[in-house]
Amino acid sequence: CFIFADEIQITLTIMESKKLYIETYGCQMNFSDSEVVASILNQDGYTLTDDIKDADLIFVNTCSIRDNAERRVRNRIQEFKHLKSMKPTLKVGILGCMAERLKENLLKEESFVDLVVGPDAYRDIPRLLEEGSDGRQMANTILSLEETYADITPVRLDKNGISGFVSIMRGCDNYCAYCVVPFTRGHERSRDPKSILTEAKDLVAKGYKEITLLGQNVNSFKWKEEGNDVNFSALMTQVAAISPELRVRFSTSHPKDISEELIEVIANTPNICNSIHLPVQAGSSSMLKRMKRNYTREMYIDRIEKIKSLIPDCGLSTDIIAGYCGETEEEHQATLTLMKMVGYDFAFMFKYSERPDTLAANKYADDVPEKVKGERLQEIINLQQESSHQSNLKDVGKTFRVLVDNVSKRSKLQMSGRTDQNKVIVFDRKDTQLGDYVNVECTSCTTATLMGHLV
Ligand code: SAH
Ligand code: SF4
Ligand code: F3S
Repeated sequence: CFIFADEIQITLTIMESKKLYIETYGCQMNFSDSEVVASILNQDGYTLTDDIKDADLIFVNTCSIRDNAERRVRNRIQEFKHLKSMKPTLKVGILGCMAERLKENLLKEESFVDLVVGPDAYRDIPRLLEEGSDGRQMANTILSLEETYADITPVRLDKNGISGFVSIMRGCDNYCAYCVVPFTRGHERSRDPKSILTEAKDLVAKGYKEITLLGQNVNSFKWKEEGNDVNFSALMTQVAAISPELRVRFSTSHPKDISEELIEVIANTPNICNSIHLPVQAGSSSMLKRMKRNYTREMYIDRIEKIKSLIPDCGLSTDIIAGYCGETEEEHQATLTLMKMVGYDFAFMFKYSERPDTLAANKYADDVPEKVKGERLQEIINLQQESSHQSNLKDVGKTFRVLVDNVSKRSKLQMSGRTDQNKVIVFDRKDTQLGDYVNVECTSCTTATLMGHLV
């Protein structure tokens, strides 16, 4: 009789398990948040599905950083509207930065949307779903001064099981004039290092080989507790000490805060990767001032020189904005000369996009004509391609320790991996497996990729 009852229960559980489909836009922090959301919904009886047609609940975790990021989501959710018209029980939720920026207005503008939830309110999703089960639209966009989701073990959504991301802080207090992030993500707060280490150890136990510590401005990570003051350098050291086989990376550093101590820690710790993403945004002190970045061209160059002197083979990448408010031709040229001076391996390059309510939107005119913005961006891209190519050419003939993380897109007989400097290298696989460390000699390159063979 008991066995019979158990069987019924199991059948009911399977029948009741609803399916969640989650789509993520924007930065790594958003991807990391989607893993937290998946975990919360898992606890609430949902299982994940890759098939949108199978879903009872669709979540889209959104980005507001530029207008085109928002437009992309607006277009995409019209497809969800169509799905909903065919399956009326389907629920659609908008999460993330767009939810935070637009709040309840999003429910008015997109009337088929059931749920709007900001980045600090994900724990409330089960309640919102429950209360909205009668068909009411629900929203929670309250930002928090404390929430870090420290106790939640994320459900990993990456496909390869080699590279994992661990969020170490949330929010941003920098208020760069052009940027929407402080408004969508709230005040900066650091996560308890004990929970960071627990999560990192759990990843290592699951076989992950690379961990990237995430925050909008990781250098200002700080944790104060009696007998346990931890800054970012100390945190990196502790994570790297988990296993010598683990690679540790981080994103993103703010140039005003990157300390000599951190550069030394990177230089002296073999498994902290020699690769630094240091967004410059613009090459002239006058633009940097209008952007409220709190450093000058000279200060930035000084940091780069320090990095190059302590870590000669360090990979360097950056973010650049073209056509910011009032940008003169001279200021644009200063960005190009700075790029030449640094010789970045890689860059993310954007046209300035005015974001409502930011300091720049309130104070300065978005006055660089669209055509000029486009031309300047193209010049920046062309120069970066040249710089990436030059940097790759210098690697030909060198041998790298590579963490294998992919089967090549072109051929199943080839694998690709990353060097310490975060460059992709492709090689004939032989008996190499995903997750292996191998030595690869670079024999040729394109602008984007190194090619080589196992040694
Ligand atoms: N916290 C990181 C960057 C986060 S946003 C940092 O400060 O370095 C990622 C990048 O988007 C920024 O570095 C910037 O280059 C770009 N960006 C941010 N706001 C933008 C805007 N309004 N228009 C165009 N690009 C923008
Ligand atoms: Fe935005 Fe500046 Fe904060 Fe980066 S540091 S997220 S650019 S406000
Ligand atoms: Fe976008 Fe929000 Fe990240 S605006 S870049 S998803 S913090």
